[in-house]
Amino acid sequence: MNQKFSFLATCASSQLRFLTCGSVDDGKSTLIGRLLYDAKLILDDQLVDLKRDSVRYGAADEEIEFSLLVDGLEAEREQGITIDVAYRFFQTRRRSFIVADTPGHEQYTRNMASGASTAELAVLLIDARKGLLPQTRRHATICSLLGIRHIVAAVNKIDLVGFDRQTYDRIDVALREFTAELDFATIASIPISARYGDNVTARSERTPWYQGMPLAEYLERIDTACRRSFNPLRFPVQWINRCGQEQRRLAGTLTSGTMRRGDAVVIHPSGQRTTIAQISAQDGACETAHAGDAVTLQLSDDVDVARGDMVASQMEPPYVSDRFAADLIWMAEEPLLFGRSYFMRIGTKSTLATVTAIHHKLDMAKREKVDAKTLSLNEIGSVGLWSSTPVAFDSYRDNRLTGSLILIDRSTNQTVAAGMIHSALDANVRRVSFSVDKMARARIKHQRGAIVWFTGLSGSGKSTIANLVESRLNEIGVHTMLLDGDNVRNGLNKDLGFTSGDRVENIRRVGEVARLFVEAGIIVLCAFISPFSAERQFVRELVEPGEYLEAFVDAPIEDCIARDTKGLYEKALAGHLQEFTGVSSPYQRPENSEIVIPTRTMSAFDAATEVIEMLKARRIVG
Ligand code: ADX
Repeated sequence: MNQKFSFLATCASSQLRFLTCGSVDDGKSTLIGRLLYDAKLILDDQLVDLKRDSVRYGAADEEIEFSLLVDGLEAEREQGITIDVAYRFFQTRRRSFIVADTPGHEQYTRNMASGASTAELAVLLIDARKGLLPQTRRHATICSLLGIRHIVAAVNKIDLVGFDRQTYDRIDVALREFTAELDFATIASIPISARYGDNVTARSERTPWYQGMPLAEYLERIDTACRRSFNPLRFPVQWINRCGQEQRRLAGTLTSGTMRRGDAVVIHPSGQRTTIAQISAQDGACETAHAGDAVTLQLSDDVDVARGDMVASQMEPPYVSDRFAADLIWMAEEPLLFGRSYFMRIGTKSTLATVTAIHHKLDMAKREKVDAKTLSLNEIGSVGLWSSTPVAFDSYRDNRLTGSLILIDRSTNQTVAAGMIHSALDANVRRVSFSVDKMARARIKHQRGAIVWFTGLSGSGKSTIANLVESRLNEIGVHTMLLDGDNVRNGLNKDLGFTSGDRVENIRRVGEVARLFVEAGIIVLCAFISPFSAERQFVRELVEPGEYLEAFVDAPIEDCIARDTKGLYEKALAGHLQEFTGVSSPYQRPENSEIVIPTRTMSAFDAATEVIEMLKARRIVG
């Protein structure tokens, strides 16, 4: 029944990158195995093994269990562990293909997302017996969010429904109805049997009612070039070379557009204007470079450029902002913490960013937008982000490379989210400078503003030591303020509890308040458990180097339990108080505190003396 793919040595006219979505149960492995087999890409010895294994597996004579081939490759790749997506290459007379084969179960959304971000088309596997599943809807939605504009539903196992036209028609109608609201340019569905080859590489006689192309031919013929044309010059700077007296050279890859020697360009985010003096590719100087070319540039002026900056056309500038509206796919076990700062990478640019608003998340099953306070593993939400420095970017719809971002956890270095940017958000709020600044405010107090941050378990003695420090500074005429966990939680932060998210927000707000005191030239003593290193680091970076001084009040938990002045440990240990630090909620020990106070061997008075000596040594107080 099957004509084989004609596998000729000639170069295919174009390449198609596609993604298969579905689980092994839907027949995804069998389909890929079948395509590789029909393209004659299975080596003879592999084929002998495969036939032998197929018989052992229970397949009828001469039948091949294709999933064994792909699953065998899968097992191999599992040993590599770090590879989440396998790319397979095959070629036919008309075209070459790169298939991103991603695991299909829900927990693998992130892998699917990384495969989809470079694909032009998705093959959605649908089991004809089951029809459209929540998973199918989920995959189609992610594909659409990730900018895939062409979708083909392979309605598989059509043999198991007796090649029934009505079953296929029902699925086709449901698919079109569902995908109507997603942004696809083409939608097709093909009844197939990956196992027996019906409508995979050749039209099947068993589905005479199906008049369309077989899947392989459809993939060979589809024109994906109808993408929106977005062509302004974008050159994210990857690194900068400066040899001797020579002017600096900017290295990178053009992500879109064309660049000519003499072109007028703007460097973002600084906005400096200049022209391109020279373009060099691997084999020497050239007049022009195109999207995808890796080149080095020389500019006609010695402007200030850094890694992560973007060289762009003057006529069609990118967005430049520190606020973004984006869709995020959350990829980490630990949920998104609102207010936490993450590393953000957009192209070659790295900066810090905080999620400042979650507008909604997608409930894929109900196909609704729902309110959300956080995003958990595999959830997709629409958020507002704020970066610590302005960044140049485009919308993801226009350019997948300059419009996508990833968020990385600062302590584990794990990628926690992938994002697709919609647009810049203009908050219409700008920093304003006033005549009296931090220095002027501090000068008349004969001191410098600073934060002394006490961290440690509940009952470790933070408040006691902070109180002693403040009393003694007050006696010598130093202007101070004391912010304490229990007190702040009775006012400014009375809406917050003790979940990780609330603790992050607690410290974020306190950090911002403490910064205002530093601006006022005041020494602000802060006593907060502050259990997470990320938020302590966040506060440290809110102020200038040397203005944040951390004192780790290192009391063993047994001592805190023995003291238990507030009776909270007793309650927590009895299970009457949830998420209590040190008992049922973590405390991350600091590693770079300016002062460590071992409470077993140092009295609160001596600890206070040490803090005051540090302030004097650093000339914060006179
Ligand atoms: S933090 O973790 O967000 O930094 P913070 O220092 O503001 O905590 O508040 C800690 C104080 O709240 C404790 O000293 C204790 O008196 C009280 N508290 C009540 N419930 C809890 C809890 N579940 N975990 C820790 N502290 C709690």
